[in-house]
Amino acid sequence: CKTLGIGLAGFGTVGSGVWNILARNGELITDRTHGSVNLEIRKVIVRDLNKFREADAPDEIFDTDLALLIEDPSIDIVVELIGGTQAAFHLVAAALKAGKPVVTGNKALLAERGKELFALSAEHKTPIHFEAAVAGAIPVIKAVQESFIGNRIESLTGIINGTSNYILQRMTEAGLGYPEALGEAKELGYAEADETLDVNGWDAAHKAILLASLSYGTLINYEDVYVRGIEMVTPLDIRFAKELGYVVKLLSLVRQHEDGSIEIRTQPSFISAKHILASVNGVFNAIAVKGDAAGESLFYGRGAGQEPTGSSVVADLVEAARLMEHGGTHRGFLPAEESPKLMPIEDTATPYYVRF
Ligand code: NAP
Ligand code: HSE
Repeated sequence: CKTLGIGLAGFGTVGSGVWNILARNGELITDRTHGSVNLEIRKVIVRDLNKFREADAPDEIFDTDLALLIEDPSIDIVVELIGGTQAAFHLVAAALKAGKPVVTGNKALLAERGKELFALSAEHKTPIHFEAAVAGAIPVIKAVQESFIGNRIESLTGIINGTSNYILQRMTEAGLGYPEALGEAKELGYAEADETLDVNGWDAAHKAILLASLSYGTLINYEDVYVRGIEMVTPLDIRFAKELGYVVKLLSLVRQHEDGSIEIRTQPSFISAKHILASVNGVFNAIAVKGDAAGESLFYGRGAGQEPTGSSVVADLVEAARLMEHGGTHRGFLPAEESPKLMPIEDTATPYYVRF
């Protein structure tokens, strides 16, 4: 069977994780797919060719020009792991226009410019896969797009930013200050290149927007959602919470109300210490998906980091390869309709914390 050429944009935390997983388990994937999926990374695009790289990829496949991934006929699938919304948008749009399937972990890109990209995907009948964009290794995109396709989704509730969760845990258990805990999260590769989005709640909000889009088949104006991050959480808040029988978590909530309006919010929350989400610690994420048929299912796992995220990228690559072989644009459904009625964002009188 034909070997598919992968063009990897980005060789940072996640990109190098993808390289390592394919180097280690590429043959296993080929065996498991009865020889039908052979993946080879043929080009890697980075900013700085002189940077030291731990992953053992040959120098000659590295370059700095993203356009090469579109122009090079030996590249069949483009993997976008550079982050940000500018260069990444141009790369993904160009790949879709060229008929090259895209795999991305970029939730900011999809939450802010998904409308244009999903339209290009439909127009050019070229899929865009993004399991890695929400909750690292946890297959929650697949769950919403495929496993729950026979359900009306009533709500999704969860902890979907590993960096914030890690920081809160280190502040709670090790008594670390906020800057030290953030420094550790960056060191471990959990935080975004610009960690502002992690701590101001927007990374989790981007993920909640994507989950809401898929759950309700609609595109959401990202400026209309309610977002507060953990920057203002202090060790004193955490101590008070503990004394009252709660833990502080950054919680994201998506739910549909009886009038059809959709509520999407991310904010620090007091969660009862007895609640199952209270025990989700460190880089772990957990999302409870409630469907009218299935009831509630809880998805739990590593929400960030090199190989947990790389694992989801590799799963998407295999899916992209299978679709290329068998045809079709995507197994599940993608948002198509214009904006739903969003529940209005409350005024600034809303308390910083909510109780859950
Ligand atoms: P990262 O460690 O900062 O790596 C970014 C990579 O992209 C670097 O190799 C960088 O090159 C390259 N790059 C950036 N801008 C570029 C440009 N304009 N042209 C060419 N190369 C460029 O980022 P990351 O943590 O791997 O995250 C990548 C994406 O995955 C982001 O969208 C992020 O939100 C998402 N994600 C990350 C995680 C995680 O746990 N880290 C989890 C889920 C999703 P240099 O190496 O030369 O600087
Ligand atoms: N910075 C993100 C987090 C990476 O901490 O959850 C995973 O999307």
